[in-house]
Amino acid sequence: METKRLLALLVQLLIGLDMLSLSVVVCIDRSYFPSSFLFGTSTSSFQIEGAYSEDNKSLSNWDILTHIPGRIRDGSNAEIADDHYHRYTEDIELMESLGVNAYRFSISWSRILPRGRLGGTNSLGIAFYNRLINALLHKGIKPFASLNHYDIPQELEDRYGGWLNPQLQEEFGEFADICFREFGDRVKYWMTFNEPNIVVTYGYRIGSFPPNRCSRGFGDCRSGDSSTEPYVAAHNMILAHATVVESYRSKYQRKQEGAIGIAMWATWFEPLRNITEDYKASQRALAFNTPWFLDPIIRGDYPPEMRQILGSRLPKFSGSDKRKLQSKLDFVGINHYTSLYAKDCPECGSVGPRGDALVLTTGERNGVPIGKKTAMKDFFVVPRGMEKIVMYMKQRYGNIPMFITENGYPQSSNHSTPLKTLLNDKERVEYLQTYLTSLHRAMRQGADVRGYFIWSLIDNFEWLYGYSLRFGLYRVDYETQVRTPKCSASWYQEFLGDSKLLIKET
Ligand code: NOJ
Repeated sequence: METKRLLALLVQLLIGLDMLSLSVVVCIDRSYFPSSFLFGTSTSSFQIEGAYSEDNKSLSNWDILTHIPGRIRDGSNAEIADDHYHRYTEDIELMESLGVNAYRFSISWSRILPRGRLGGTNSLGIAFYNRLINALLHKGIKPFASLNHYDIPQELEDRYGGWLNPQLQEEFGEFADICFREFGDRVKYWMTFNEPNIVVTYGYRIGSFPPNRCSRGFGDCRSGDSSTEPYVAAHNMILAHATVVESYRSKYQRKQEGAIGIAMWATWFEPLRNITEDYKASQRALAFNTPWFLDPIIRGDYPPEMRQILGSRLPKFSGSDKRKLQSKLDFVGINHYTSLYAKDCPECGSVGPRGDALVLTTGERNGVPIGKKTAMKDFFVVPRGMEKIVMYMKQRYGNIPMFITENGYPQSSNHSTPLKTLLNDKERVEYLQTYLTSLHRAMRQGADVRGYFIWSLIDNFEWLYGYSLRFGLYRVDYETQVRTPKCSASWYQEFLGDSKLLIKET
């Protein structure tokens, strides 16, 4: 063991001194990371819990959407999903056998406050998360909780029009307050939102997510305005985040000694062509993605690139909003999966998810993909993107503490996919290994990264794709709910456990 550790140190030193050539792939393991580093798996309530109308839970906007014919690729819904609501102890045992020390999950708003703040608190919902949190702690696994992972109670869509209405700030504030009060003595890591940049882009620009709002030509929507609504919804989410952090800091943080952040969808963009216009386009694509939310939350205003292009379409923060916003984060959560090329496209203003940045994004250059293709559109395997996005965040936000809150690999699956193919997920193992190596490179350059979570513990309901994509370390048989470890589960177990050093020539 001691020899292995020394060897690991030597390899790290050689890499640090750039004395190991690039043709050598170093398969790192847990011993390369600080002992305080969190290694976990990630899930979300809607995607795994099931029990969709049990114990007084109300329907969420995703419950409604998944019951509209034609919206979900395989016609499925998440009524049962992984039945985690009833099988959470078994799932925690899976985590224990992996050897993780943290678990990222989300709390269902519809379970805690089924009718929003005008209805009562649901004690059965609170009891479920208490059971979950206590069982995690019992196994030595730190709970890492998101307050919102895409879905909101449908009643809030109906009553207020969802995130387009500033009222949602108060609603979210009330929900968060209940969670801090009920769970904050044991949960020390909080995230307000998961991927709000995806929520507003796909909910209000493309319209494929609830509440299905967009302009004609953007998607299949009855109404909406793709040129303004994403910015209004984002503005309300940013202020809702600030409201919640302010109340956590003033009422709970000192006593509970926890930290609060936000998890952002963070793709890396590189110039398509070696020309200044495309370099600037890649910078715009980045700014319109994660800094859209993080700049206001950390620096008090939107990125200048956004203001310049969007003008009055971008709402303004008042003086008091700006004061409220400054430094409203203890850490940034990075959901990183892939990278894309960015091409300058002045005429793109009215199309696609990133048109407003005047950018066309693509996964191919002269017919050559940026990395290996996967089962998901626009999802390529580009390990270097992990180092790049982390370094970008480090630079832009003064090396704020970071957690990789999601990283994972999709497999396609239908009724005829052989079990062997699903279990033998060598591509996922290679993906995780190379992305972790890239993350480690960023850390060697000083990036303050404190944890890493694989998406996902178990196969689950993948939003618009239903069950046709699988991200789990464990395969789930949706008929029987049996969980079976894939190769990647054994790999993670080995990575975390018996630290072994393996250097293989490529
Ligand atoms: C992002 C989301 O947070 C998660 O819900 C989703 O399943 C994964 N990425 C994979 O697409």
